[in-house]
Amino acid sequence: MTIHDSRSTIHDLRMEHRLQKLIAAAGIASRRHAEELITSGKVSINGQIVKELGTKADPDHDHIKVNGKLINPQLKNQEKIYVLLNKPRGYLSSLSDPEGRPLVTELLPQSVGKVHPVGRLDFNTEGLLILTNDGQLTNYVTAARNRVSKVYEVKVKGVPTEVAIARLRRGVTLEDGTRTASAKIKLLHQTETNAWFEVLLHQGRNQQVRRMFDLIGHSVLKLRRVRIGSLTDESLKPGYWRFLTGAEVKRLMGGPSRKKANGGRKQD
Ligand code: URA
Repeated sequence: MTIHDSRSTIHDLRMEHRLQKLIAAAGIASRRHAEELITSGKVSINGQIVKELGTKADPDHDHIKVNGKLINPQLKNQEKIYVLLNKPRGYLSSLSDPEGRPLVTELLPQSVGKVHPVGRLDFNTEGLLILTNDGQLTNYVTAARNRVSKVYEVKVKGVPTEVAIARLRRGVTLEDGTRTASAKIKLLHQTETNAWFEVLLHQGRNQQVRRMFDLIGHSVLKLRRVRIGSLTDESLKPGYWRFLTGAEVKRLMGGPSRKKANGGRKQD
């Protein structure tokens, strides 16, 4: 296993969380106790006592006090962990499985800390998967509106016609009635019996690539994710992982270097 770089912290976008979650994350109280603190009027946001349990705040912008003491410093010091894993086939992108199948988190040593997968790769899909304890990054990378592209290499059964691939590029209605957004699809290679494509998506519906190719009658035989936004790593072999660098995290979140590289647009 390789470790290329160490951990990093980012505080870029406005991100609101429920007060009880923030108080618990600051290590001041359990969530349950935090709720009691709120309802008993011990918590304020920007000087205003808040007793409503659903109230949200952003620790990067709001001053949150419990019993008159600011908790923002505790929240800032929380270490953020960002891991890039090359997920092998036969692992589940989940934190638990009632069926007892191998989990992606089992590929990381416990010393990495508690992290969750950002989005999902199917059990039999290989490739790049981010794991983190940062909910902000998770939301950013998975929300379709941020247009963080995901690029896949796909091997399919048979050789689809150009007409069929053009349909997939424009967007198709899947078997459950949902419509896919437009996609970039490039033929990489073909033989008499198979074709390989590079597929770029900005959305991540469940099993989207497999369902798209099923729809045109060319089932996916192998699927590998090779890029997430600006993030790629050809030297990371299946089953191996590394920490992301601070620059990689910033760029993923549409940071300055990314904007400069693509003329100010968020992601391609
Ligand atoms: N599309 C799929 O069909 N499967 C994945 O794992 C990822 C994208």
